[in-house]
Amino acid sequence: MNRLANQDELVFSIKDLQREGTKKLSKTVAEYYNEGSMDLLTLNDNTMAFDRVRLRPRVCVDVSEIDTSTKCFGAKVAMPLGFSPAAMHKLAHPEGELATSRAAAKAGCNMILSTWATTHISDVVKEGEGYGNAYGMQLSMVEDWQTNIDVVRNAEKAGCKALFLTVDCAVLGRRLNEYRNGFSLPKHLQFPNLPEGIDPHCSTVYDPRRAYDRSFTWEKVKRLVASTTMQVYLKGILTAEDAILAADCGAHGIVVSNHGGRQLDGAMSTLDALEEIVAAVKGRIQIHLDGGIRRGSDIFKAIALGADHCWVGRIPIWGLAYDGERGVTLGLNLLQEELTLTMALCGCSKLSDITPGHLARLRANGLFAKL
Ligand SMILES: Cc1cc2nc3c(=O)[nH]c(=O)nc-3n(C[C@H](O)[C@H](O)[C@H](O)COP(=O)(O)O)c2cc1C
Repeated sequence: MNRLANQDELVFSIKDLQREGTKKLSKTVAEYYNEGSMDLLTLNDNTMAFDRVRLRPRVCVDVSEIDTSTKCFGAKVAMPLGFSPAAMHKLAHPEGELATSRAAAKAGCNMILSTWATTHISDVVKEGEGYGNAYGMQLSMVEDWQTNIDVVRNAEKAGCKALFLTVDCAVLGRRLNEYRNGFSLPKHLQFPNLPEGIDPHCSTVYDPRRAYDRSFTWEKVKRLVASTTMQVYLKGILTAEDAILAADCGAHGIVVSNHGGRQLDGAMSTLDALEEIVAAVKGRIQIHLDGGIRRGSDIFKAIALGADHCWVGRIPIWGLAYDGERGVTLGLNLLQEELTLTMALCGCSKLSDITPGHLARLRANGLFAKL
C-alpha cells in the first residue's frame, strides 16, 4: 500500500527509459545521441562519478511535507532540474522540440534550446505560454559575429530569459560514431535558428556563419555579455580558474559541463569538477551542472556538493523517442519522484536542508566516509 502507482508498463527508471527509447531509433541516430567523443571515457565517467559518492541518511526528521521547488532565471520551477540544449530533437520524434517544450512547461521545468535545434525558438517558447516556466537559448560561437548577434536578438525577441554560451566547443569533438555511420541531418529537417541561406546538410563546406570561432577569448565573452539583456551562463566550465574568469567577465552563472562527454574525451567528470569550482566561486555567481544525471539521487548529490541547479540533455531525448511528449513527462516524473524519495530518506524536507554532510566518499583506506 505504500508503493506509488506505476506510470508505465515498461519504464520504472531512467535506465529503462534509455533502453526502451533507444529501441525505437535507428542505429545511426541512437549512436549519435547516446555516444560521445573518442573512447567515451568522459561520457562513462560522468555517470560513474555519481556512483562514487554515497549518501549519509539522517533519520527521525519530519518529512511529511517535501518541497523540491526552487527558482531558476526568476521562474518558479518544480525541482532544480531543466533541459540542457541538445541538437536535433526531431530525429527522435516528429514533434521534436515542440513536444519537449510542452512536457517541460507542464512540469514546471525550464528548457534551453540548442542553436542546432530543428524548431525555431519562438515556436518552442509559444508552447509554454501561460505555464510560468522560463526558456533560454544556447549559442555556439561562430566566426561571423553578426550571426552570433542574430541568434541572441531572436532569443530576446522570443522572450528567452537566459543565454547559454557554449565555451567548450572551439573545435568539434571527435565523435567516432558520426564518421562510422556517415551521420548527417536528414534532408527533410532544417536548422531554423541559423540565418537563412546556410546549407544545413553540408557540414564540411566552409561558411563563417556556421564555422566554430577558434579565436573566441574572454574579451569576446565580455563583449557578448554586454550585448544582451538576458542572463548569460558560460556552459562548459570544468576548472576553478575558468570559473573565476567567468565571474570576472560579468557572467550571471556557469554550467559545469563537459558537453555530456561529446567534446574533450578524458576531461574530468562534472561532479568531480564541481567541488573545486564551488570552493573558488564563493557564491559570486550561480553554479549549475549537467552531465551524467540519471536519477533523482544524482540531483541530490549535485545540490549537496554546492550546485544551484542541474540540467539533463539525453533524458528528454530518450523520452521523446519512447513516446513523444508523454515519454518526456514520464522521465521528469520519475526524476521528481526519486528526488522527493531521496530527500525524505535523507531527512531533508526542503532543498536548503541538503548539505555536504549527507554525502560520503571513498577514502584511501577503502572505506566510504563523511566528506
Ligand atoms: C544529442 C546531443 C546534442 C547536443 N547538442 C548540444 C548543442 O547543440 N549545444 C550544446 O552546448 N550542448 C549540446 N549537447 C550537450 C548538452 O547540452 C549537455 O551538456 C549534455 O547532454 C549533458 O549530459 P547528459 O546527456 O548526460 O545529461 C548535446 C548533447 C547531446 C546528447
